[in-house]
Amino acid sequence: MSVHVKEVSRGQDSQVLPKVPVPPLKQTLDTYLKCIQPLVKDDQFKKTKAIVEKFGSPGGVGEVLQRKLLERREKTANWVYDYWLEDMYLNNRLALPVNSSPAMVFPKQTFRDQKDALRFAAHLIQGVLEYKALTDARVLPVDFARGQLAGTPLCMEQYYRLFTSYRYPRLKTDMLKVHMDAASLEPEHIIVVCKNQFFSLEVVVNNKQLNEAEILSQLEKIVKMSENAEQRHPPFGLLTSDGRTEWAQAREVVIKDKTNKDSLALIESCVCVVCLDEPCGLPPSDTNRALMMLHGGGHEKNGANRWYDKSMQFVIGMDGVCGVVCEHSPFEGIVMVQCSEFLMKHIKGSPSKMVKPSSSRELHPPKRLLWKSNSHIQGLLAASGDRLQRLVNNLDMDVFVFETYGKEFIKGQKMSPDAFIQVVLQLAFYKCKGRLVSTYESASLRRFQEGRVDNIRSATPEALAFVQTMADERAAFTDSEKFKRLRDATNAQTDYTIAAITGMGIDNHLLGLLKISKELNMEKPEIFCDETYLASNHFILSTSQVPTTLEMFCCYGPVVSNGYGVCYNPQSDYIIFCVSSFWENTETSSAVFVKALNEGLLEIKDLCNRSGVAATKPVNSRQPAGRPHKSGK
Ligand code: COA
Repeated sequence: MSVHVKEVSRGQDSQVLPKVPVPPLKQTLDTYLKCIQPLVKDDQFKKTKAIVEKFGSPGGVGEVLQRKLLERREKTANWVYDYWLEDMYLNNRLALPVNSSPAMVFPKQTFRDQKDALRFAAHLIQGVLEYKALTDARVLPVDFARGQLAGTPLCMEQYYRLFTSYRYPRLKTDMLKVHMDAASLEPEHIIVVCKNQFFSLEVVVNNKQLNEAEILSQLEKIVKMSENAEQRHPPFGLLTSDGRTEWAQAREVVIKDKTNKDSLALIESCVCVVCLDEPCGLPPSDTNRALMMLHGGGHEKNGANRWYDKSMQFVIGMDGVCGVVCEHSPFEGIVMVQCSEFLMKHIKGSPSKMVKPSSSRELHPPKRLLWKSNSHIQGLLAASGDRLQRLVNNLDMDVFVFETYGKEFIKGQKMSPDAFIQVVLQLAFYKCKGRLVSTYESASLRRFQEGRVDNIRSATPEALAFVQTMADERAAFTDSEKFKRLRDATNAQTDYTIAAITGMGIDNHLLGLLKISKELNMEKPEIFCDETYLASNHFILSTSQVPTTLEMFCCYGPVVSNGYGVCYNPQSDYIIFCVSSFWENTETSSAVFVKALNEGLLEIKDLCNRSGVAATKPVNSRQPAGRPHKSGK
């Protein structure tokens, strides 16, 4: 592990999965050229092609770096892990809310009163403790891949970081600390935030875990204590919503005081954060609930009732707006979904285990975290609050449920639903802007040891050829030509997907070559200074499939100021799209994108129906690779 990622102690043996491969150099360079060709002008492409060819020439810089990467692969469990983690998360200076932390939005809950909401919170905390016991004991059933190349076992390491991780702000590169021996940490506590006040709720007292009635009674005490205006402390949680460098600087000021340092230490060692939110005052539409999870509505609402460095923050709004916000660096959205679904099943399926009050212990009230402030710190808090408000005002979110069809219709066309949706996203963007842009789709690498993700570059030449025919107003193309191009585009997308999930993606490889050149103190190779490389890493479309089996959905913000974040959740007969962008950018609009997406989805359906292939065409070679295996949970 690098200096920025500290694993305090290794967990039990991880499964023996293959190591992520290092793709052949020539293959990556050829794919790179193919990927960027539809995105840059001809003269720029020629220039880049010459640079790439020089880099990959026999005896060239590329060969030297490739050899070093292969050596690194031998020496490490996962050669790209640290490079990727720093590049994707720890070096990123943007604020965590909206820019980095994804959220799961739970179905709107109906609470009769505050007690009902706290009962829900107690039940959820009980579920968290049960799930944590499974991860601590490493007894979660192993997940198996579904969809493309179904059936292979997947790496489970990400689950073990759910409740054991903390991201420390640093001036240049944050530090992710993972306690792999969390089970031995005593006593365990959860941080509960209520009215911007922090409380440490010990969940193990005298070696015995609190039962649900005891948790509820502790939560009631917390609510009561938070109401005492005289004892109220400034909203320190705001600092964690700031840019990472700003928060790192503020933290240095804050920890000068021992009281603050102690409070921070308690937060940094907790199992998770539970945010008891005030009613947000907005209609609980999908979009508003997504916004509340992503940023809490700013200081005026629940924006300070958070601690963004902690990996799992459960939000329970007294108005029934609930969900989870995650610090993304320790794990992917898929793991967050599995945990959330376990908790929802726990809440719905297992009746609340409220034991009789007589069998509950009389416990000391939870400890309120104390903070010492001064005018300097007050100024820092105000500045963080202002910057959060700007982020809140800037986020343009549109949750769109497309109800005309879902995965089953697409499968009926003998196409991969994921590839199909990616092609539709390309069409939607093309409808808005008349061009394609560098696109990111996350591809899981969990088939490999400590695997995280690589990128499927969905703006393929085949997608461009298809969207051009669809947008051709002279109607010069026949349906059969359009349909052929649709199939070519989905096939190209599926091929790229299979390459990426088997470790043959190009983004991680190119990043590895760049990083290793730095380690060797070499001059930055020209290929990485080229404006094409920079543009190809500016992901105007940042997309991800995060499917759920229960009624809930994932959402996140754009990754660049002029971009869109599109998280989608394909179901059998409908698809949820969470489209985000920034109001401050006049080039983007989530509503305009959603309109184009809806049109594109309907136009392609009509095209498929007119082409009538489902009934007539033989089964395509890219049908599912086998009967999908059920995921472990
Ligand atoms: N004809 C008919 N059916 C097909 C088909 C075809 N040509 N191709 C695929 N299908 C079926 C699959 O068998 C599968 O069936 P199931 O629903 O019964 O399991 C279904 O369609 C879905 O497959 P597909 O749409 O191809 O996608 P996938 O499930 O393989 O997912 C990725 C593709 C890239 C999304 C996935 O590999 C991945 O990496 N997911 C992780 C993404 C991630 O990490 N997100 C979180 C980021 S924070």
